[in-house]
Amino acid sequence: MSIESSKGVWKSGPGRGRVRPKGRQLDDLAWSQVQDLLGQRPRRRDLLIEFLHLIQDAYGHLSAAHLRALAEEMRLSQAEVYEVATFYAHFDVVKEGETPPPALTVRVCDSLSCELAGAAQLQQALQQGLDPKAVRVVRAPCMGRCDTAPVLELGHHHIDHATPEKVLAAIS
Ligand code: FES
Repeated sequence: MSIESSKGVWKSGPGRGRVRPKGRQLDDLAWSQVQDLLGQRPRRRDLLIEFLHLIQDAYGHLSAAHLRALAEEMRLSQAEVYEVATFYAHFDVVKEGETPPPALTVRVCDSLSCELAGAAQLQQALQQGLDPKAVRVVRAPCMGRCDTAPVLELGHHHIDHATPEKVLAAIS
């Protein structure tokens, strides 16, 4: 590894070096929040998804500032962190100027077994019965629990043979 790359210097032109990568500038508060969350964990590339989960769980979404800070902390490109974060349905990436989602998300499986077991009606009933400012209802791919369809995920908890009543009981 060259001295320049080990120091994180990005070339912007012949003979010119910058101490910051191209793109979004680093937000000091977001950076210190990410450092606090990661603690003493090694900044290994294979832990990127785990770190994204830490931020998502702590803040309910992944802001542009936190993704930028995580890239800095792990010495990865912003594009790489952004691509991983947007690949997985469980991460809520919020761009600058966008409104973060409500604190609670219900993910209703809409794959075949659940669809046949009434997932669409379930989702509709939930959307009509829950306050959209407090709970977001979205579709999600198969959760591997097809034998208990319809299935949904409330936060990190699965509800098998889901009904609106079970969801309301779990929320309360
Ligand atoms: S189809 Fe819904 S859990 Fe598999």
